[in-house]
Amino acid sequence: MANPDGEIDLDSLADHVIDQESETDNDSAVGVDSDAVSTTSLPKFQYATENGRTYHVHDQGKCILPNDAREMERLNDMHKIWVNTLGGEISLCRESDTRRQRVLDLGTGNGTWAIAYADAHLTAQVIGVDITPTQDTWVPPNVQFEIDDIEKEWTWKRKFDFVFGRDLMGSIRDWAALLRSIFNNLNPGGWVEIQDYGYPHPEGTEPPPTKLLEWRQEMVRASKALGKRIDMIEELEDLMMKEGFAEIRCVKKRIPLDNSSKNESLNQIGKSAADLFEAHLESISMIRFKDGLGYSIDEVIAYLSALRTELKKNHMSAYFEAHIIYGCKPVQGLVSEDPV
Ligand SMILES: C[S@@+](CC[C@H](N)C(=O)[O-])C[C@H]1O[C@@H](n2cnc3c(N)ncnc32)[C@H](O)[C@@H]1O
Repeated sequence: MANPDGEIDLDSLADHVIDQESETDNDSAVGVDSDAVSTTSLPKFQYATENGRTYHVHDQGKCILPNDAREMERLNDMHKIWVNTLGGEISLCRESDTRRQRVLDLGTGNGTWAIAYADAHLTAQVIGVDITPTQDTWVPPNVQFEIDDIEKEWTWKRKFDFVFGRDLMGSIRDWAALLRSIFNNLNPGGWVEIQDYGYPHPEGTEPPPTKLLEWRQEMVRASKALGKRIDMIEELEDLMMKEGFAEIRCVKKRIPLDNSSKNESLNQIGKSAADLFEAHLESISMIRFKDGLGYSIDEVIAYLSALRTELKKNHMSAYFEAHIIYGCKPVQGLVSEDPV
């Protein structure tokens, strides 16, 4: 589905999702890794349609974000924003880079990160795992995708050298348990990197953007009600430490939500991020507001329309704070004192 330039053909991706719905049975793997055993046989894929968007349905209810072609477009745009924010990099953890042979991308989405990593590290074998079958099928030979629930027990037979997860806040019920699975499935000396962001911080806008602040609070409240908190990022370092990771580093970067920066590249990022935020407010809010807080679809639409008006009227200045947190599973006696 990606053309050789790496652009994803969204129409064929939409067909792929529909095909999966009608054609899959109890076999949960899309690309079968001979070394991996799928953790659970997921039942036949089920989808729900709400307000024209398609959602994956799993045993714990609807996934919070849609899994349709429009969402894949958002993930592609978000990937570009991440890479630009990190100065052209897809990962900041450089340690043991060349020794990483087995790499796992958690909640891979359409697989953009997994494909980019595999292209840049031709000797690495990259597995992208996701609960919903929205991955690209035209992939480099060193990438494969599997459909599975990363919150269930992991039963891959071989351990990994690098485990990566991006933009998973609000999708995970139990981060401590997920970090434990990562730790147990890393080789000693292997690394984990989590990239995520906290929800928008307004900056110097007068009067303060009431609707934006209220929306942020409602998102936090809804995500708690649904048992998948979006405000976990500040707690991740501590959790990693408790689960035994060492040499933990956290790099923070701003993703501006406006184009008022004097720095041209931040300006570009800010413009793309603001456009994307506004265009996809509904997809990131709908299930949370509806299922978590009991809003009707019409109420969500009205609520977000008022927020959009405020965003336009105030020429608001705000930013997301991106956190790039990485750490390693220690090799007893061999953890370097002075990481690069
Ligand atoms: C916001 S998307 C991020 C996609 C990708 N990491 C990226 O940065 O482009 C979150 C992804 O996590 C997946 N996901 C949510 N819960 C999951 C679970 N329990 N197991 C596996 N994947 C899950 C969703 O299907 C979705 O593709």
